[in-house]
Amino acid sequence: MKIGIDKIGFYTPHMYVETEDLAIARNIEPGKFTIGIGQEKIAVPPITQDAVSLAANAALEILTDEDRDAIDYVIFATESGIDHSKAASIYIHQLLGLNRNTRSIEVKQACYSATAGIQMAKGHIALNPESKALVLGADISRYGLQTSGEVTQGAGAVAIVMSADPKIMTVESPSAYQTEDVMDFWRPLYSDTAFVQGKYSVDKYIGFFQDLFTEYTKKTGIGLSDLEAILFHLPYTKMGLKALKSILEDVNEADKTRLLANFDISKKYNATVGNIYTGSLYLSLLSLLERNTTIEPGERVGLFSYGSGAVGEFFTGILQPNYRKSLFKEQHEQMLTNRTVLTVAEYEAQFNDTLPVGVENIDLPTEKDPATICFAGIKDHMRQYVRKNK
Ligand code: COA
Repeated sequence: MKIGIDKIGFYTPHMYVETEDLAIARNIEPGKFTIGIGQEKIAVPPITQDAVSLAANAALEILTDEDRDAIDYVIFATESGIDHSKAASIYIHQLLGLNRNTRSIEVKQACYSATAGIQMAKGHIALNPESKALVLGADISRYGLQTSGEVTQGAGAVAIVMSADPKIMTVESPSAYQTEDVMDFWRPLYSDTAFVQGKYSVDKYIGFFQDLFTEYTKKTGIGLSDLEAILFHLPYTKMGLKALKSILEDVNEADKTRLLANFDISKKYNATVGNIYTGSLYLSLLSLLERNTTIEPGERVGLFSYGSGAVGEFFTGILQPNYRKSLFKEQHEQMLTNRTVLTVAEYEAQFNDTLPVGVENIDLPTEKDPATICFAGIKDHMRQYVRKNK
């Protein structure tokens, strides 16, 4: 049975800061951010967007009534969740009006967890071919003002409908995966910003990619010449480029040229949104699918998923007939184009506009946020969401 990605939605907040402006404000040569790091813009979330509302907005645009009836599994991947106990997927279940007979959970393993969700959904559909699963990857990436990770912040969500006979891409088996206990990036419970050993994380990420690609080739016999593109988890776009180049040294020119050209297409959305953690690999997939003009149905792409800590996986997918017709390209391009640019001072004000810890009651200004679904405040310690009529 063919199982895979039937639809992909995406949402990012309506504000951003240019990395060039950020570099000037931080007294850094702009080329370091735009070329050395490979980021052009960083999405900036208002206080009225959190992981739940970002994911709900991403899913809203893609779901039909038929999907709502068939979805019986919601898997929410995040590392910027809102509750230590209740799964974020339950809020989504209510906001999207999903079927009561649904299993709803939250999964965590840094930026890897949406891939865990995809594989869990695949297993579920193999056992229940009529079912669909909704996999969400949503995060706000915060390192802190004037930190070396600041330029790699971002915010956004992807929403993926998994089904049998998918319209966009099948997810092939087997895949290659591995775990190693490393402290390259983590966020203790008391901190709302991440801790990172940046250069160490880059080394670990590249090492995982090389190991997993070798392991995958050993398992399947599939090599570089069988892949139209390799997609990466992209904390910042240069990181994926470094990993890709690390395996291209002794490769023939045709493979090298194709893989580098398609990498360039696959990084575009990530370069203008920033790091969205769990959704980052799938945002890169979306960028490739929506922007390429040469990859034909039936062709294969590789995907490298990495979550610090660390778990990684390499797997492949086959693009399906008419996959372009199932994309929401115009909506995504419009969303990215219609955003408002902030000055660095305005971005800093947004960054510092956080909820007081432990606040019992608060109303938030959802009228300032053009998103359909917003985080509206807290009532008796319970988070409130609003779905505006549009
Ligand atoms: N023009 C072009 N490139 C420039 C430049 C300029 N004017 N100035 C510097 N650069 C290049 C450097 O040569 C370097 O390139 P290289 O990595 O290919 O060698 C790059 O810009 C970054 O410079 P560096 O001095 O290494 O930056 P840094 O000390 O500020 O650290 C990170 C960069 C990426 C380590 C840091 O931003 C970070 O920790 N980010 C978070 C990492 C992360 O997300 N990890 C998550 C794990 S999945």
